[in-house]
Amino acid sequence: MARKKISVIGAGNVGATLAQRLAEKALGDVVVLDIPLVDGMPQGKALDIFESGPVYGYDTRVKGTVKYEDTSNSDVVVITAGLPRKPGMSRDDLLLTNAGIVKGVTEQVVKFSPNSILIVVSNPLDAMCAVALKISGFPKQRVIGMAGVLDSARMATFIADAAQVSVEDVQTMVLGGHGDTMVPVTRYCAIAGVPIGEILKKEQIDAIVKRTAEGGAEIVKLLKTGSAFYAPSASVVAMVESILKDKKRILPCAVYLQGEYGIQDLFVGVPVKLGERGIEQIIQLNLNVEERIALQKSADAVKELVEILKRQQVLS
Ligand code: APR
Repeated sequence: MARKKISVIGAGNVGATLAQRLAEKALGDVVVLDIPLVDGMPQGKALDIFESGPVYGYDTRVKGTVKYEDTSNSDVVVITAGLPRKPGMSRDDLLLTNAGIVKGVTEQVVKFSPNSILIVVSNPLDAMCAVALKISGFPKQRVIGMAGVLDSARMATFIADAAQVSVEDVQTMVLGGHGDTMVPVTRYCAIAGVPIGEILKKEQIDAIVKRTAEGGAEIVKLLKTGSAFYAPSASVVAMVESILKDKKRILPCAVYLQGEYGIQDLFVGVPVKLGERGIEQIIQLNLNVEERIALQKSADAVKELVEILKRQQVLS
């Protein structure tokens, strides 16, 4: 069986850590690309990961490059190129800079891997997905944003910690845009199938919801020089694995909605089935009025960014 090929664009904190995690999981061979300005950096990191194989016990080939030819015929391409935020910045402050970067990257990626599935990580996530969809011309099933898996993982960490149980027994669901307006749906959060409302106090749940929504900022404030990358890269691996192994996991991802959840022509996080064809189904949760309003508010925040990109002709 031919090996799968995964390309990671951007060999910074998220990209390099992702390359390492993918290599260790042996999901396919990995190519890591960065800009010519840093020629040598992606090659060096990739070689270092490649040389860990004998110790760790994987045969994954890992190649670093500054040339898009090397990414040819990838099955999955993960876009992590772009600036991370600094303390005091919101993800939205990165909008125009990263839109330009994601546009340029997407043009090159689709030239060499026209049948790939794109996973976007660059922020502000939902708006960057819109850029990648538009520029690639790919069907919407093949452009997916990583946000919900990360936000749900953060929430699961906090719930497991508060309840003093294994993270393995915690299920969470965070919908909406990847920003302050994200919607942790506590009604769908459970510990071994038991709704968290039956186990944790309301004040505990409220605190967890708040900490989840501010989870990215909490890390930025601590790091001071950049944003989170361990949990984000782990979250991408879960998505890549479900796609390449056709596991059909149900994971919250940013997807292009056309009427689902009453949202039109916007990327917003909702649960989807991920398999070899990309997004194979959008799962429609039965939301109550309060949750619907919160999701709509989150979609409105995404829309504002998309409108700016339209005015700046990036998305027109
Ligand atoms: N093509 C390829 N790589 C690029 C390009 C480009 N046009 N422009 C920038 N890069 C590279 C940078 O050279 C750098 O190595 O993207 C990398 C980004 O790495 P970091 O600065 O370490 O940022 P990181 O923490 O990895 O975050 C990347 O993901 O989570 C989001 O908000 C985060 O938008 C940010 C992105």
